Parts: sequence; C-alpha cells; structure tokens
Amino acid sequence: MVLATGGAGFVGSHVVVSLLTCGFDVVVLDDFSNSQVEAARRINKLAGGRRAKFVRGDVADLRTLRDLFRTHRFDAVIHFAGLKAVGESVAAPERYYDVNVSGSARLLATMAEHDVSRFVFSSSATVYGLAEKVPIAEDAPLDPTNPYGRTKLIVETLLADVAAARTQTQIVMLRYFNPVGAHPSGMLGEDPIGEPTNLFPLIARSVGLAGQPLRIFGTDYPTPDGTCIRDYIHVQDLADGHIAALSALLSTDLARGVALPINLGNGHGASVRQAVAAFEVASGRTVPTIDAPQRPGDVAASIADPSRAAALLGWRPRRDLDAMCRDMWRFRVLNPQGYRDAAEEHETPR
Ligand code: WQD
Repeated sequence: MVLATGGAGFVGSHVVVSLLTCGFDVVVLDDFSNSQVEAARRINKLAGGRRAKFVRGDVADLRTLRDLFRTHRFDAVIHFAGLKAVGESVAAPERYYDVNVSGSARLLATMAEHDVSRFVFSSSATVYGLAEKVPIAEDAPLDPTNPYGRTKLIVETLLADVAAARTQTQIVMLRYFNPVGAHPSGMLGEDPIGEPTNLFPLIARSVGLAGQPLRIFGTDYPTPDGTCIRDYIHVQDLADGHIAALSALLSTDLARGVALPINLGNGHGASVRQAVAAFEVASGRTVPTIDAPQRPGDVAASIADPSRAAALLGWRPRRDLDAMCRDMWRFRVLNPQGYRDAAEEHETPR
C-alpha cells in the first residue's frame, strides 16, 4: 500500500492513476488547498474500477499523520504535498518553509515511528539555480535562487540526514524539470487555483475567451531565438518515472541508506517561441504574444541530463512537445473552466 501526499494535485493525480492501474493500493492525503475534489473523483473513474482512498488533511498535522499510519500499513510514501509557486514563495517565505519543510519533517518522523522506510520525494530542478552548463546532471552545483527552491534543497538535505541515521531506508528524490501536458483521456490536467504563473497554462489562457496576450519574458537571451529554453516533460512521462522509481525501491536495494537524486526531464529543450508554435499547431489557434522584459530569477536555459534515470530506473521519456500540447489542449477543450466545470463540490470521495 502506498501513501501519496498531495495526490490530488497536477503531478500527483496522474501518478495516482498510474499506481492504481499498476495494481497498487493507494491512500491519498490531501488538504485540497491547491487541488480540487473533482480531481479526486476523476482519479477514481480513470483507474478501471480500482479506487484510491482519499483522506482530507494537512501533511503537517501530526495527529492526522499518526491516525493514518496507525490504521494503514504503508510499503512506501510518495510525497507530493507542498507549495510550488516561485513568485509566491518570495512573497510568503514563512508559509513555504512551514508547509514544505516542517510538513516533510513531520511526515518523515511519523514514518520512522512506524518503520516505513521507502520514500519518493517530489523535488525540482529549481534546486540547481543558475546552472553553469547544460545539460544538468545530478552532481551539478545546488544553488537555488528563491525560497521555493531553497525549501526543496533543505528537504533534500534532511533526507540525506535521515538516510544516514536509518540505513535501512530507501529514498529517491525525483527532480522534475518542467511538467506539462495532461492525461490522454482529457479528464485530468493542470488546473492551477488562482493566477497561473507557469508558461503553458498562460499560453492556453491566451487563446481562451479572455484572449489575454502572452507576455514573452525576455527576447534578448543568448539563445537561438532570444527566448528562454526549458526542458518540458510530459506529466505522463513523470508518472511513468514514479512507477519505475517505486518499483525499483520495492524490488531492489536501490538507494539503501542514501538519499538519491534522479532527474526527470527530456534531455533537450524548447524555447518559449517554440512552445508557443507547438501549442498553435496542436490547438489550431493563434497565440497572441507581446514581448516583455526578462523575468527576475529566470535562467537562459535549463535542460536535464536524464541518463541516471535511464541507467537506474530503465526510464526514458516517450512523449514529445507536440504530444504535451495535444493532451493539454484536449483537457482545456473538455474542461474550459478546469475542474470547476464539474458538478458542485462534493464530499471527499471515499
Ligand atoms: C518557463 C519559461 C519564463 C510565463 C517553474 C518553477 C519550477 C517548476 C516549473 C515546480 C521561462 C517563460 C513564463 C509567461 C514567459 N515548478 N514565461 N511568459 O520558471 O522554468 O519553472 O515551473 O517544480 O520550480 O520555477 O517555468 O513555466 O514559469 O517559465 O515568457 O507568461 O517561460 O520566462 O523562461 P520555470 P515557467
């Protein structure tokens, strides 16, 4: 049985569907502060009759955690729950440290109390900061440039200390590059609560009713077309990566006594203009854009070296940028208002 904290979120929901489809029993702990109950209902419709058990609660609440671990025997924990908006973390660092760092520490302490020793951490390429060279391997310098990235690095450091203290643990830290796309059914996708800040939700919004043009942050970078390059990774490939990591922890001695970082990225990049062009092809719509100044904190290029994931997990991304755009567009067409299209709020599904 697997505990997935934050399993109703964008990446978490896609992973939970894959876990169920692969035959795992899953309990999801989510406070629904940055996810929708409707996503939980759809997860349980997508997994061929298999259903996750959803518990509404805060990962930082020790009573909630202890009740959960007292009533379930978990073989592993996948920890998605956390705050992830860079700009918001600059404005509200206290909240980011509380949720991302304290929440992780309490979860790990409760795991130790109940001898649960396999842990998959949802980390981020943000821990690399302004990478000196690309592609970026896991042994590159770690120098995050914002509070969000620093909370991820602090948790990674905590995990290294946990692994040193309890050598029977197996811990992998999956460093996502830029997750994009949606479930091929069009039933799950990225539906940020509040104002989106990531590129693709903003591209999609620019072709929506609002027709708000996309601002291209910086056209004077030292890149072929002057715009930033990122390593976009399909959320379904991310889900496959989590299944591969979990299977390796359950069937081998992978990461015994260490906290092992593993990049999940494509290994090649796309510029903002290339992303816009791919979305226009997939949607058949024109994306209105305006050139804008560089966004503080952005790096010119961030591209993964995914060779460790291939070597240790047998994982390789299988979906390209066109597939990301096609799947994302399908979700947007079927859910113009995201999950809010669905019926009114329901009780947390059991
Ligand atoms: C991508 C590119 C922008 C919006 C962030 C988080 C990271 C991870 C992924 C969680 C950049 C440009 C964007 C816009 C633009 N999240 N852009 N106009 O900053 O690479 O990474 O999301 O783990 O932690 O930092 O992604 O989508 O914000 O930006 O031109 O309106 O698109 O400048 O070059 P980023 P992003």
